[in-house]
This record gives sequence, structure tokens and C-alpha cells, in this order.
Amino acid sequence: MAIRSIGELCEELQGKHGAAAKSGGDNAIAKQKEKGKGTARERIAQLLDAGSFVEMDEFVTHRCTNFGLEKTKPLGDGVVTGWGTINGRKVFIYSQDFTVLGGSLGEMHANKICKMQDMAMKMGCPIIGVNDSGGARIQEAVDSLNGYGKIFYRNTISSGVIPQISVIVGPTAGGAVYSPALTDFVFMVDKIGVMHITGPAVIKAVTGEDVTSEELGGAATHNMKSGNAHFMAKDEAECFDQVRKLLSYLPQNNLDETPFANTSDDINRADINLRDIVPTNPNKGYDVRRVLESVLDDGVFFEVQKDWAKNIVTGYGRVGGKSIGIIANQAAVMAGCLDVNASDKASRFIRHCDAFNLPIVTFVDVPGYLPGVDQEYAGIIRHGAKMLYAYSEATVPLITIVLRKAYGGAYLGMCSKALGADIVLAWPQAEIAVMGAEGAANIIFKKEIDAAKNPEELRAQKIEEYRAAFATPFAAAERGLVDRIILPEETRKELFTALNGMESKRESLPRKKHGVIPH
Ligand code: HXC
Repeated sequence: MAIRSIGELCEELQGKHGAAAKSGGDNAIAKQKEKGKGTARERIAQLLDAGSFVEMDEFVTHRCTNFGLEKTKPLGDGVVTGWGTINGRKVFIYSQDFTVLGGSLGEMHANKICKMQDMAMKMGCPIIGVNDSGGARIQEAVDSLNGYGKIFYRNTISSGVIPQISVIVGPTAGGAVYSPALTDFVFMVDKIGVMHITGPAVIKAVTGEDVTSEELGGAATHNMKSGNAHFMAKDEAECFDQVRKLLSYLPQNNLDETPFANTSDDINRADINLRDIVPTNPNKGYDVRRVLESVLDDGVFFEVQKDWAKNIVTGYGRVGGKSIGIIANQAAVMAGCLDVNASDKASRFIRHCDAFNLPIVTFVDVPGYLPGVDQEYAGIIRHGAKMLYAYSEATVPLITIVLRKAYGGAYLGMCSKALGADIVLAWPQAEIAVMGAEGAANIIFKKEIDAAKNPEELRAQKIEEYRAAFATPFAAAERGLVDRIILPEETRKELFTALNGMESKRESLPRKKHGVIPH
């Protein structure tokens, strides 16, 4: 064979780059576009900082010889992998290419993903998976299944070490859904991303139910009903913007410093409106996000799972430039009661903040765990216990702010002093008690009220007596269960001071393999 010139060799390489970029072929790319979807490479370009992407394994091909697959050996094997930066910080990424064999996952496709997972772990960087795939590559049979298993294993080992993000911008079917489920955050694009373990046809055959793919596993379903997803976007551009925003609040790994963002928002800024946002009448609702926006830097609260279990609010913000995780009862929905879903949502969020060293600030206005047969049958005991567990094992700074009600078990569950809160602040209208004044008076003075000449008059009097004694922050403050009673308008300043004071917190748990969290 004649020795070729460097010019020819370089030309060949460039030709191969060109072929890899279009390895699915023009028709498949056109079909992808018709569905309103980007190609795997376009998605990476949109997500990462311009020009930062470094591709790996561009020329990997499968080794399958089943069912004539050896005749089609597309470069890259249906997934584009590599690393780049987001807001200047390094991330590893893989983006499945539906235009190549339907983005299906076989042995080498899986190996490429696993290589990124291993590198992200070694380098201590977040990993983002962009999912658009027909699932296990049917021709590759058990090699495909084994590939998924290797990914799941790495998802689990990486959990709590590096942030893992799944972006669903196409089909994700069968066991393939379990990689996203094992990651920290799932982003879905409306009408484009779909996740389900069995599709509509199988469901029809097994249970007789009629359901469309979108109804079964679309972005709205998983963001509003199942709680499997955390973010929903109207299109891919909005979705990638959400991913970039989320990462700005997270450290690169579990040993990294908390990210800092400059702000011109005065830390001493007082907001007198806070006096009116939360009504002193405990039966009146309000949107707790107004409190958060008032307290956080530049009024920015980045909400996580905003459309599911809306009776509790979770998300990120900054105070004096530093990221914090926030949990808040939402008095506007079910009076902010804790139910099964709210407990799941909050406890997972607490554990994520704790794993990544983000201080947790808990805003409390909770009448209790939600009573009801449905809730008991759904396991409110074990779900509610997750909150107690998550707060108790958290070793990051824990700041609790009691805005209004903090009753019963839910008072404990919302990061009380006994569960490890480092600083408990309370507003003047805080009521920290076993239950509300009405319920309490009706129980402890029942006999007297029933025997009274004018029971209603006595009932009102007893309720008032109980309210005066216990529907205040002072009974708890007398016992050191509230550290400071503060003016609502000074919450931002007080929170900054508390966070600063607790920043050097060092706490470790007894040595153990791991605990056994209630599930
Ligand atoms: C091999 C696949 C494939 C797969 C799609 N393709 N899925 N090839 N293995 N799993 C190929 C198609 O044959 C087609 O090739 C090309 O990708 C595009 O697919 P279309 O069907 O034309 O696209 P569309 O109409 O948009 O439909 C998308 C789809 C459908 C809904 C995803 O392709 C589909 O139902 N695929 C099979 C899904 C599935 O059952 N997967 C296995 C799930 S079980 P040509 O050459 O015609 O362009 C599983 C187990 C995992 O994943 C277990 C892990 C533990």
C-alpha cells in the first residue's frame, strides 16, 4: 500500500468528522426536525458555553452481527459524548442521537456513556444525560440490558458525589427510565419528552386501559402527577436554560465550595411588606413564595418540582451571594399540611442539599400532617418519617424560621430544634403548639364546655385562654426551642447573620455503612 501524504490523511480525518456529524443520514435528521427536536450535537451546543465542547469517542461503532446489523455501523453508535463548560464550570455530557438507530442503546453506546460517568466522577464534575432513545437496542439483546445495568450502577455510586442531571427530549421507555430516576434532577420538554415503563399498547393488553403516550408519560404527567420529573419546559431552549440555572446553585461535587454569585442587593434591606404578607389570622392563606422572594438576593427563588406536591415549596436561592436550599410550607395549598407527596418531595430535597453542602433554610407554617383514611393507607407514617430522618441526619447548617403555625408532629418534621436546627428564628405571630387553639380547647375543656350553661361562650373563652398561653412564640422561646424572635421585615438580615454564624459548622454522624431510611 502506497504511503499517503499528511494532506490526504488529514482530509480523510476531516471527511470522517463530517460523516460522524451526519451518521444518521439526512432523512432521519429531517424527521427529527419535523418533530421540533434538535439533533444530539445541536443540543450540546445549546446547553454548553459556546465552543467549549470537546467530543470523545466520535468514531466508536458497535460490534453486533445479529440480524444484519453489521451492515450498518454508524460512527458514534447513536450517542455523542464529551465535556465542556456551563457558565465557565466543567461538565461531562452525553446526548443520545435518535437519528442513529433510534438512539437505541447497545454495548458500545453504553460504554461511551459509562466512560463519561467514570470521568465525571474522577474529575469531580456534574454529568448531564440528554435522553432521546428507543431504549434497549433490540438486535443487541442482553448486551443492551447489561449496558443499562452498568449505567444504573454508576448512577448509584455517583449519587451524592457529583450532581447528575437527566434531560428528557424524546422517548425513554422500559427499564431505560431508571437511569433518570436514579439521577438527581429530571428535566422534560412538553410534548417531546416521554417516560414510561410500558407503553399504551402493553397497558391496553394487560389492563384494558386506553391512554395516549403523552397522557401516560409526558412532561405534564411526570411534573404534575407522578413526581418523577422536577422541571418542565415549553421547548428545548427553555429546558437547557433551566439546566444552566440549576447548575449555578450547585457545587461541582460533594467536596467543593458552595457557589457564590455577586449581588448588589443590600443584605440589610428591610421589607416592611412582610408584616402584611403573612396574615396573623391562622385560617387565612397566602403564597409563601412572596416571603421567599422578599428575603432572597434580588428577589430570585429558583423553584424545584413546582407543579407537584404544591403544599410544600422547595428550591434554591442566594443570601449575600451564597447558595442555599429552601423548604417552605405553602399555606395557599391544603393550608400547607404535610402529606405523603410533600414528605417525599421535601425529604429528597433535604438529602440533596445535605449531600452537596448547601445550608438548608426551612420556612414553617404548618398545621400538621394531613389527616385522612387515604393518607393513612398511602403510608403517611413512613413517608412522614422520611422528613424526620432527613433533617436529623443532615449535617449542613440548618436554619428554621417559624412564620406562623408550627403544630404537632409537623412542627418537629419541619426542622425543629430537637431534630438538629442550629438556629430557630420566629416571627411575632408564630404559634408553636401541639395543635391549634380551637382544637386544643375543645379537647382539654370538653367536660367544662359541655356542662356550661352557655357552652359557646365558654368555648370561645377557653379558646382565647389557650391562644394567649400557647399560640405565641414565647412559650417555645422560654424553653430555648426558639433562639430569636425577630421582626418580619428584618428576616433577610437575620438570615444572613445566622448563615454566616453557622458557616463553620462541623458535625459528623456515628460511623456506619449507611442508615435505613423509611420508604
Ligand atoms: C433498535 C430501534 C429501536 C430499538 C427504534 N429503533 N427503537 N432500533 N432497537 N429499541 C429504530 C427503528 O427501527 C427505526 O429504524 C428508527 O430507530 C427510528 O424509529 P421509528 O420507529 O421510525 O421512530 P418513531 O416513529 O419516532 O417511534 C419512536 C419509538 C419507536 C416510539 C421509540 O421506535 C419504538 O417503539 N421503538 C421501540 C421501543 C422499545 O420497545 N424499546 C425497547 C424497550 S425495552 P429505521 O431503520 O426504520 O429508521 C427496554 C428495556 C431496557 O428498553 C431495560 C433496561 C433495564
